[in-house]
Amino acid sequence: MPSDALDNAKRLAAARAAELVLPGMRLGLGTGSTAKHFVDFVGEKVRAGMDLLCVPTSEATRAQAESLGIPLTTLDATPELDLTVDGADEFDPAFNLIKGGGGALLREKIVASASARMVVITDRSKQVNKLGRFPLPIEVIPFGLGATRRQIEKAAADAGCFGAIDRRVTPAGHVFTTDGGHYILDCAFGEIPHPRRLAEALVAIPGVVETGLFIGLASAIIVADTGGVEILGAL
Ligand code: A5P
Repeated sequence: MPSDALDNAKRLAAARAAELVLPGMRLGLGTGSTAKHFVDFVGEKVRAGMDLLCVPTSEATRAQAESLGIPLTTLDATPELDLTVDGADEFDPAFNLIKGGGGALLREKIVASASARMVVITDRSKQVNKLGRFPLPIEVIPFGLGATRRQIEKAAADAGCFGAIDRRVTPAGHVFTTDGGHYILDCAFGEIPHPRRLAEALVAIPGVVETGLFIGLASAIIVADTGGVEILGAL
């Protein structure tokens, strides 16, 4: 899909998700180019007078939300949210996701898991039968990186996953650090035969903070295509 058409598709998905936003809701605001459109729609609702309280999943989303005048809170003040709307890098038929292409996976997962519902907004290019075409991001503590990487390789091999593991760098060539001050390892495993087993094995490694595998968190997926949107699951 040409990039203009792709961006229009993302906006369509975000517009459909914005219809779920009702007065008084406590919302999680996702991160990424698709979620950015959703935050714009939330900003319009706030400007029109809707009473909402939101938790951003990254400093980038916080900055956008602040610039739009969206009232923000924290999970300390508001530990339970009604709805989180976020993008994804990949989704499978069981609604398992890979996230973290933008490096915000940890806060995204904390916010999604504090929400009664997570609705994913995405486009057809992210749909796969088996997760893993998109390299799996794993957020790790800088201390002991070499040992953590070795343990990730072993845990991945036990779960049937093999492939290059690269520490993420910025386009300018600097080491990428997350909002939490951690590194990201991008793991080019290819098809992941057992996503849940892999996720559980990886988070048991002390140097691993979280993985981009979102298992059982999404309740519905809004998939945009050139022809419109398709709703998977119940909104
Ligand atoms: C951010 O860390 C990611 O999880 C994003 O939600 C994901 O990369 C989707 O981003 P796009 O909407 O830009 O494709």
